Amino acid sequence: MDFSLTEEHIMIRDAARDFAQTELLPGVIERDNAQTFPDELVRKMGDLGFMGIMVDPKYGGSGMDAISYVLIMEELSKIDASASVMVSVNNSLVCYGLEAYGTEEQKQKYLTKLATGESIGAFCLSEPEAGSDATSQKTTAIDMGDHYVINGTKNWITNGGRSDVYLVIAQTDREKGHKGINAFIVEKGMPGFDIGPKEDKLGIRGSDTHTLQFNDVKVPKENRIGEDGFGFKFAMKTLSGGRIGIASQALGIAAGAYELALKYSKERKAFGTEICNHQAIAFKLADMHTEIEAARMLVMKAAWDKDQGNNYDMSSAMAKLYASKVAMEQTVEAVQIHGGNGFVKEYHVERLMRDAKITQIYEGTSEIQKIVISRGVIRG
Ligand code: CAA
Ligand code: FAD
Repeated sequence: MDFSLTEEHIMIRDAARDFAQTELLPGVIERDNAQTFPDELVRKMGDLGFMGIMVDPKYGGSGMDAISYVLIMEELSKIDASASVMVSVNNSLVCYGLEAYGTEEQKQKYLTKLATGESIGAFCLSEPEAGSDATSQKTTAIDMGDHYVINGTKNWITNGGRSDVYLVIAQTDREKGHKGINAFIVEKGMPGFDIGPKEDKLGIRGSDTHTLQFNDVKVPKENRIGEDGFGFKFAMKTLSGGRIGIASQALGIAAGAYELALKYSKERKAFGTEICNHQAIAFKLADMHTEIEAARMLVMKAAWDKDQGNNYDMSSAMAKLYASKVAMEQTVEAVQIHGGNGFVKEYHVERLMRDAKITQIYEGTSEIQKIVISRGVIRG
């Protein structure tokens, strides 16, 4: 067993850290306030290879492993979780979904642009009446011979306003339950496809989240992903990798808040000494450090499982469950260590605390991760 990073991994981590410090940190508070994220920054992430981290270079990707993906996600998330969710969705839901299950034509047409960041992708599973209960899809796709006609509503879609390519899950045969669900590639601008207003959110405010409407949207048959009826399994398999991305986002949020709290506690004085010298604060730092390290182990184990070709359904669920809990709990502690300064935007920890909450909700709530884990445990 070897816990050390390779020289290449260290280089990749340092490049992401440098980018986060020099490009993401300036303006992060303003972007959070204004709920924006400039295209120019997305392009820069694409230029660095962050939009197609694990994609084969023959499709324009960076050809890195899942450990590299986790390292990049952690560094971006320490500074700006709105940037990292964009990266996570594009990489582990959209690019991975197409690379693993798309046809060669679909890869050439869509993946090559998504992997470089020339195009941005969205993953559309959730609906007003089908969130955790994802098999209850109400969006329909009717087979018309050479094309499908899609009708319905998807909500909470990350990158919803800025994407070019949308992977849309829909019910093609209600009688067949989850075996009658398919996944489709829908392009922005297809007639009948409308994007609703941006949600006004608690956290990850720079990331755009939208409701999407499909009114008789004609999608060519060649845009279906996989065999007929593969859509639900496509979503589940893709989400297992996505959960590694969100787990590493949670890890980064927690680590970012911890680093700020540690620094602050060595500078701020109370009762004649730096506050880190008060045992109550020192023990908080000890707990934070331990919890974050434990989360990192689970996140790395899930990424390692993926790189080794092992099944990672359970390890990714455990990583997400634990890292998101750590993110929520430890960002609250980081605010506490900052005292009143923790409550204002200038010190960043209040934003990290707000951003942490979403990691317990999206890509399967913590309760859903426990369903996945408990089923695996019982199945053996
Ligand atoms: N891989 C392959 N197949 C899988 C699978 C997996 N990981 N998980 C389930 N399946 C298969 C099952 O084997 C079953 O197939 P068979 O009948 O052929 O055996 C089929 O899928 C149905 O599975 P279940 O009976 O387990 O389905 P369920 O209704 O009990 O639901 C669930 C399972 C795990 C709760 C699932 O509905 C789920 O994950 N819900 C959460 C949805 C979610 O994560 N949404 C995220 C949206 S994307 C997002 O959020 C992005 C973002 O924020 C940035
Ligand atoms: P519900 O399913 O209604 O759950 C409500 C509560 O009940 C939760 O606490 C849940 O854990 C609990 N619960 C439900 N069922 C059970 C059960 N069986 N046992 C125990 N507890 C249960 N979706 C996408 O498809 N693509 C995206 O890009 C995307 N991005 C998102 C971005 C943001 C900012 C947000 C807020 C959401 C996003 N989502 C996206 C949707 C997200 O995946 C769902 O919100 C999530 O899966 C939960 O679904 P829900 O909101 O309908 O909650």
